[in-house]
Amino acid sequence: MDVDKLLESAREMLPFAYAPYSGYRVGAALLTTEGKIFKGVNVENASLGLTMCAERVALYAAIAAGYRSFSLLALVAEGESRPLPCGACRQVLGEFSRGLRVAVAGEKGESKIFTLKELLPHPFVLQGRK
Ligand code: THU
Repeated sequence: MDVDKLLESAREMLPFAYAPYSGYRVGAALLTTEGKIFKGVNVENASLGLTMCAERVALYAAIAAGYRSFSLLALVAEGESRPLPCGACRQVLGEFSRGLRVAVAGEKGESKIFTLKELLPHPFVLQGRK
């Protein structure tokens, strides 16, 4: 799967984001190693701490559908600047795919690709596991 195509899938999600408090819409598209795509948007709440990021919405949908291995995450935010996954999302994504690549882009302009290893070089790992 082409990185730009996956970014386009993430961009198409922006209208579905529920972000009345921050006004910052985020769309995510997560590609499984089998080639399936799961999408997500950020979902905010009046109790602000209950807000869920777009990438975790996509990841949890994939897990619930039986997929656990991912090769590429595309993340798009409204506006010019490129979003980066928050620390919590990095940790949660790392639970499933240490080899994940993460492509980020604003609504326009150039995208950038990171590896999850670059974004989270030292994840928390429960001792005795993995
Ligand atoms: N947000 C995401 O959806 N993903 C991230 O990785 C960073 C932040 C959302 C959460 C909240 O709805 C808005 O961006 C502002 O923090």
